[in-house]
Amino acid sequence: MKTIRRREFLAAAGSAALMVGAKSSTFNSSRQAADSRVEILLNEKIGQVSPDIYGHFVEHLGGVVYDGIWVGEDSKVPNIGGIRKELIDHMRRIKASVVRWPGGCFADSYNWRDGIGPRKDRPRRTNFWRDNSGNRASQAYRQLNTGPQKYDPNWFGTNEFMRFCRLSGMRPYIAANLRSLPAKDFYEWVEYCNAPAGETTLSDQRAAAGDREPFSVEFWGIGNESWGCGGRFTAEEYSTEFRRFIAWTPRYGVNLKFIGAGPNGGDINWTRGFFNSMVAKGANQLNSLYGWALHYYANTTGAGNALEYTTDEWYELIARSDRMESLIEQHWAVMGETDPQHRVKLIVDEWGAWHNQHPSLPAGYLFGYPGTLRDALISGLTLDTFNRHADKVAMANVAQLINTIHSLFIAYEDKFVATPNFHVFEIYAAHHGGESVRTIFSAPNLSFKQSRPNITPGMLAQMSPQQRARMTAETQSTEGTLWGLQGSASMNGKVLTLTVVNPHTTEARETEIAVRGANIQSVKSTILTASDIHAHNSFENPRGLLPKDEQVNVKGSGALNYRFAPASVTRLQINLA
Ligand code: AHR
Repeated sequence: MKTIRRREFLAAAGSAALMVGAKSSTFNSSRQAADSRVEILLNEKIGQVSPDIYGHFVEHLGGVVYDGIWVGEDSKVPNIGGIRKELIDHMRRIKASVVRWPGGCFADSYNWRDGIGPRKDRPRRTNFWRDNSGNRASQAYRQLNTGPQKYDPNWFGTNEFMRFCRLSGMRPYIAANLRSLPAKDFYEWVEYCNAPAGETTLSDQRAAAGDREPFSVEFWGIGNESWGCGGRFTAEEYSTEFRRFIAWTPRYGVNLKFIGAGPNGGDINWTRGFFNSMVAKGANQLNSLYGWALHYYANTTGAGNALEYTTDEWYELIARSDRMESLIEQHWAVMGETDPQHRVKLIVDEWGAWHNQHPSLPAGYLFGYPGTLRDALISGLTLDTFNRHADKVAMANVAQLINTIHSLFIAYEDKFVATPNFHVFEIYAAHHGGESVRTIFSAPNLSFKQSRPNITPGMLAQMSPQQRARMTAETQSTEGTLWGLQGSASMNGKVLTLTVVNPHTTEARETEIAVRGANIQSVKSTILTASDIHAHNSFENPRGLLPKDEQVNVKGSGALNYRFAPASVTRLQINLA
């Protein structure tokens, strides 16, 4: 990241900024010498922030679908057509744009035909995650022998998923089964979804289920993690499979957007191998690829658990999440070797912090936990990263929506609570559709003790006991570093939205903010923070961590000074003249 010198910064700030002070803010009230700077360059446009980068992911895994989303039409839990009503209401609040389904690894075991027709006649099938729960599952989950988490009753199929999308205002993104079904089943799923009623047997089946209007599904994922659970292909093999799958797909007037199963974290060879193999068949082969899906999880191994962690572990996990930026840049550069015009965009269709399953949630909620302020900062910094790369990232889907991994909600029967991640998504909704503009952050770096590299659950599961022991023995504490402030800015009409993460657990950052190219009229702030870095919401205490709005008083001309609270995610909405 480019840093600018103080004199340069102040000169730039002079023409456009105002001095502001808070009316009643705990964090803005005293004006001290600034130790940090933010410079927003309105004329340096990056690209439009697609609302799709604030997308979601729903897999038939643990408590995500059954109980989380689908409660059934006869449930005592308030619902609309079987879908949990509180969830729908909250999805509307964050202006949710797109949702990926049915997996994840589950997708490559799923037969969409099991999930259509009268619900009472649908088959019960062994769920992909029945045994394949990895090291992050609780003992309670492993011991569970029954329930929809282990044996999927298929009550939530294509029509129910589309109902959820419609009610929540989201567009569907469907992941097709590449590993265990032939391409013909894929075409027929497209036909079931998109063919006009009255034209084929399948579209008549859809209409008979109450959906006469075609679903017009645009986004189709061709497999999932095809290097691993999706078939253990090589990049070259997957490229052949990808081309075969999409070689003939009925369109029904819909502009189908195919998404390739991209790399796990930093696996550059997977990206290079796939792209090289595609163009070896002909340069135009990449025209059929809309997006290349990157997956990246920040893993808690060596960084505490979901609710308990030290200050070093707080920094360590935040720093691991921050790797997203270099992953985007690295894969983008490799894609550019064979696609110099960058017709193919990145789709980060799984991201988040992945902790061990927490005992406060039901046994069947595989990888479920409430999430804390630490996860909220990870959400903020990741969404800021996507905004800063709005020219590269066309879609992103947080893993997952409810009751598992980096979720926005936890729900159990009639209990429902929004996690801190939800509040970040609500705060950041102001960026949707805005023009991302270059923003330079300069603040004292942080250092912390880090224990071990980011080992994903998949990597751990594949290690022998000897390899694990060696890894532990070789693990040395080293010093890690992390930036002091980071964020993003976007313009929507006359409103400039600036979002900023301050990871320091105890120090506020006194910051001079300059907006180059416009005058500031007024400023409003929204802050998510707490004095306890473990703050979270639970069924017992649903208001444990909520954002606060503050009006910021504009006092006169000069530099815009703002005090970013310790351990915080902040949004400033700056009205420009
Ligand atoms: O989100 C959980 C799992 O993580 C997904 O099923 C898989 O794609 C990834 O490994």
